[in-house]
Amino acid sequence: MKDRYLDFVNSSFGAGVARSIGLPRPEVLRRHRADQPEFGGMAAIGAGPSPALFDALVDVLHAIGMTSVAHESAHGWLPVANRHGAMSGRFEPHARDSVASDRVQALLFDATGIADSSDLASLYGFFHDALRSVARSGRIIVLGRPPEACANPRAWTAQRALEGMTRSLGKEARGGISSNLLQVAEGADIEATLRFFLSPRSAYVSGQVVRIAAVPVEKPADWTKPLAAKRALVTGAARGIGAAIAAVLAAQGAHVIGLDVAQARDALDQTMLAIEDASPSGGAHAALLADIAAPEAPAEIASALLAMGGIDIVVHNAGITRDKTIAKMAQDAWDSVIDINLSAQERIDDALLAQNVLHEGGRIIGVSSISGIAGNLGQTNYATSKAGVIGRVESMASVLRARGITINAVAPGFIETQMTARIPLAIREAGRRMNSMSQGGQPVDVAETIAWLANPASAGISGNVVRVCGQSLIGA
Ligand code: NAI
Repeated sequence: MKDRYLDFVNSSFGAGVARSIGLPRPEVLRRHRADQPEFGGMAAIGAGPSPALFDALVDVLHAIGMTSVAHESAHGWLPVANRHGAMSGRFEPHARDSVASDRVQALLFDATGIADSSDLASLYGFFHDALRSVARSGRIIVLGRPPEACANPRAWTAQRALEGMTRSLGKEARGGISSNLLQVAEGADIEATLRFFLSPRSAYVSGQVVRIAAVPVEKPADWTKPLAAKRALVTGAARGIGAAIAAVLAAQGAHVIGLDVAQARDALDQTMLAIEDASPSGGAHAALLADIAAPEAPAEIASALLAMGGIDIVVHNAGITRDKTIAKMAQDAWDSVIDINLSAQERIDDALLAQNVLHEGGRIIGVSSISGIAGNLGQTNYATSKAGVIGRVESMASVLRARGITINAVAPGFIETQMTARIPLAIREAGRRMNSMSQGGQPVDVAETIAWLANPASAGISGNVVRVCGQSLIGA
């Protein structure tokens, strides 16, 4: 679905009109394109006292070909960069009249050593100096510690305070700049997550807090195909977000099994054909017809996947809405939404786990919704089911840890699909603009976030719910 307003105000004629009458002009977000470099430019580094992640940060920046400049708060950065043979210099705040090419692509702040509220002044110093220096569609990433892992209440308090800072920066930055907080446990590997948040793949993810645990991590041999040799089931793959998930997982090397109902056979075939055309060497994709809510579905899906040799990634994307206020809602509208969006997923996971169809080190990714976080008028059934998806992530993460399986969910905000195209115009416009990016997201934004969670190097991320909502005001 097209956002005509965004196209208009970014056309040469529309931009002039918007400027002269003061209309807001949402940024055309930079998204991943296979024919463009994923990374480049410079990151400005800031830090609180005793930063612990300089070595890890230098390593990743070096690996992805980004250079760095150190703000005065990060005085220990230059020796570390030199030791790793990485190019670095001193940060100079961006002058108001300097050209766009002087700007940095990212601001990275190592807050891991912040252990008292008085240390938070270092954040003020860095972001006060540096916020105006970020390029359009740039990135702000603050790295801290999980608060409850802190040694004392003061450190816990100060680490918790980082959330308010990071989320506010996302609201102030504008220009398609995202701002996210990574809570990194001691010894956790940050590469997959840093790559995702520094890249255009995370274009519509802002205001999020991601927790990374210290677990053994398998790094992909080729970061452009991190899912090579992995098999992924995507439910509801015929169209919309599911089709985008199937395409992105396949582009990253996975063999995709796209599942949808029999009525969607033609659309599913088209989706799977398009994927094969886009990655002709892959070739091992398959279409599976099933109603996930049918009583026989879990056993049938499990045996079909077992016949292929099992599965590494399960994406529970299939979902429906049957909106009505509770007083007017028919019993069937309640039952079918809860069953398809939540109970069917539980039954399928049970079958896949009982027979070890989902391999050790596997990934389960649910698709929740900001309705499941904030609630929504006319969506008691849908919001209940989507909050249940979050409950599943919270309740299953520790159960699955022994098998090295991670479980996470994405919670999309307003995404441009057939589902949102049906919303009445005024409500649609409000949903679309009420976020820090002033626009709806694309199905690919959800798909890229899922691909990052599916990455073998994301083993330390489990029990997280990541909103893909452009930092929507709803449920924030
Ligand atoms: P969509 O309606 O375009 O696609 C859903 C797909 O799931 C369809 O191909 C449909 O045939 C399939 N499906 C439905 N019931 C099924 C069943 N019983 N068995 C197998 N397949 C079934 O929806 P869209 O917009 O692509 O949404 C995908 C997911 O994202 C859903 O879970 C939805 O709740 C969620 N979501 C979407 C948002 C949006 O803005 N579009 C926002 C938040 C969440």
